[in-house]
Parts: sequence; C-alpha cells; structure tokens
Amino acid sequence: MNYPIDAVRKRFPALQRTYKGKPVVYLDGPGGSQTVAEAINAGRDYMMKGGANLHGAFPTSIETMEKIAEAKEHVAALFNGKADEVAFGPNATTMMFHAARAIAKTWKEGDEILLTELEHHANIDPWRIEAEEKKMTVKYIPLDTKTLTLDLSSLDHLLTKKTKFVAIGLASNCIGTINDVKTVSEAAKKVGAVMAVDAVHGIPHFYVDREELGIDMLFSSVYKMFGPHVGLAMIKKELFDQLEPYKIMPAPDYTPDKLEIGTQNHEGIMGVTEAIRFIGDLGQGNTLKDKIISGYDAIEHYEESLAKFVRKELGNIEGLTLYQAEDSVKKTPTVAFRVEGIAPNEFTARMCEEASVFIADGHFYAYQLAEKLGIVKSGSFIRAGISVYNTMDEMKRFVAGVQYIIKHK
Ligand SMILES: Cc1ncc(COP(=O)(O)O)c(C=O)c1O
Repeated sequence: MNYPIDAVRKRFPALQRTYKGKPVVYLDGPGGSQTVAEAINAGRDYMMKGGANLHGAFPTSIETMEKIAEAKEHVAALFNGKADEVAFGPNATTMMFHAARAIAKTWKEGDEILLTELEHHANIDPWRIEAEEKKMTVKYIPLDTKTLTLDLSSLDHLLTKKTKFVAIGLASNCIGTINDVKTVSEAAKKVGAVMAVDAVHGIPHFYVDREELGIDMLFSSVYKMFGPHVGLAMIKKELFDQLEPYKIMPAPDYTPDKLEIGTQNHEGIMGVTEAIRFIGDLGQGNTLKDKIISGYDAIEHYEESLAKFVRKELGNIEGLTLYQAEDSVKKTPTVAFRVEGIAPNEFTARMCEEASVFIADGHFYAYQLAEKLGIVKSGSFIRAGISVYNTMDEMKRFVAGVQYIIKHK
C-alpha cells in the first residue's frame, strides 16, 4: 500500500505555516512533533463543552472520567499493556522523577543500578540522584563512540545480584541508534532487576511491545507522537501495586491513580486518544492494536525511504560529518551531523532564514554522548528529525539548503 502522504499532511494544520514566503519544513520532530487536527480539536471541544474535575455525579465530571479511561485504553493498545497500568502527568521527565522517588523506597545502601551512556538525561538523573542519596553504586553500559552503539559485551559483568534496577532508552534522540532493549531486559531479568525503558524517542517511529521487550516500567510523551503535551508512565500492575509514590494523604492510594499527582491536564489527555488513533488510521486490521502495528509498519517504511535519501546525500557532502551507526544497525529517521567551519547554532539559524527549514541544534540532553564525542563546547550537533508528515520534496529542499550554506560559509 502506498503511504497516503497527502492525506496525512491534511491532518496537520501547522503544515500550512510559511516563513519568509516559503512553506516551513519541520525537521524538529524529535524535540516535539506537530499535532494532528483531531487531537487539537478534542482538547478544544472538551473545554468548549464543559470540563470538570473527577469523581463528581454530574455529566461533565462523568464524561471527563470516561474520556480519560478511553485515553488509557488507547495507551494500553499502543504498548500492549493494560489500561489500569497507565498514569498520566506533565511530561516523561516528571513521571520518571515521580517513579524514581517511589521505587527508591525499595533500594538500600550497597544495591546497584545500571544505566547507559546513550540516554537523554531524563533517563539518568531521576534514578542516579535517588541511588546516590542511598549510597548505592551507579553503573553505566558504555557507549562505543566508534560504532555509536551501546557496548553490551560486558553486560553480564555489569549486572550482579545486587542490581535492583536497569534503565535504557528505546532509541537515541540524537543519533537515532535503536538499542537492543530485549537483550538488556533478558539479562536484567536473570538477576531479578526491574527493567525501565524510556520510549520517548522511539514511539513516533516504531511499534513497542511492552511484553515482548520485557519492560516493567515504561515512560513516554505524547507531544513527540502527534498529540498534546502529556507525559505517561505504564508500570506492570504487580510492581505498581507495591510502589508508594509521594502524594498528598487524601488522594487515591491505588494503582494507577496514586502516581497522578494533583489535577491532570484534562484537555491535553483528550488529545491522547486521537494521537494514537492517527497511528492506527495508517494501518489495517480488526482491532485497534492490529491497526497500530500495521500503522507503524507504514510509518517505518515511509520514513526509512526519506532517511535513506538524506543519509546518502549528506554523506556525499565534503566538510560535513554524519554521526550515525553503520547500515546494519537499526535507526530512527533522526540524523545528526556537524559542518566544518560553522557552529551548529549559526547553521540552524541560517537554515531557518535562508531555507525556511526548522531544524534544531545542541546536545538535546544526550549529554554523555556529546561529551564523549568531545563536541559539547563547540555546540554539539545539528539534528534533522524526519517525521510522518515530511515529504521527499522537503528532503530535497533540506539537502539543497545544507549544500547552499556550506558553499556560502
Ligand atoms: C529520549 C528522550 N527521553 C526523554 C525526554 C524527555 O521528555 P519530556 O520532555 O516529556 O520530559 C526526551 C525529550 O526530548 C527524549 O527525547
């Protein structure tokens, strides 16, 4: 089936935007995708028709609870989990801090946790801070700066009987490398460690089966996947039931509500359902889950065709360094590079002013990666993040813009 790019683009109102007389090319998806119209409308409708807080006996309150339950059902289908394992919150970072404070109550001095060097710091510091406060050992799966992948060769030594917790990202938000989560989770299970996964960068691009990957705690953000600014945690029921998150005394003490601190962003949550439906609409099948899996197939296939073109074209440009793992390593369509003689922030400003291409620069909180590569002081990376709504014409405009700026440094 051909990917319905025209129909997809019609669903994203922000694609109508122009800058300096030209349609904007959005290549900043890893920082936050554009939002599908249905998700925008759902939030607006909620406020227009009357919203309310939870647990009331009147229609607006009952409707709010029903809609939130529906959003959780959709998240469950998205990750092959259960609706009563899903908690919403402001963003993934906040959810990880909440979860870290809760799970750390089960940690003690001398215990160990295992993190990786290829993370957004949201998937390091919440766990690291708690572990250090408890005088625990924090270990890291090393990043191999030559292959731009995690070096799993010492995994069995890094994990010990004292390892209580392992956290890893699905994919690097900077260089796109998709991590071998399954191998890590199988090893973590052998020592009885809890397995946490940061799904934020992977989830706009490929299907994540929580069961298949052996994930106990999963964190994600809906604004990276075509919806509003809502974060979420999905935690296995048996584990969730044991956690005692920090919360005010009269608030619910049951799973999953106990992790939802204070009143939620209801209008945002209304858009979660629509963002997930959008992915399902790109696929086929009898159930939402089947549609989602097939929708992701279509997304992966389409985005890969654009990424392949971009990687090849950029790879041929002299003075441009691409940071990417070799072809055999699976990657999201996120391409990081640097250009000799121009600082990344100057480059991205010129791409905006001269080519109307919105593209970001920096270390994107993947700080250890940028630091190990020795490029933090010089501005780290330029990052082109391809998304479901980008076109081959846009990729050509982007490459032409890069070539023009390099020629006119
Ligand atoms: C891989 C990854 N993890 C975590 C985060 C943090 O997500 P949030 O902004 O929802 O806190 C981001 C955001 O860029 C990310 O890319």
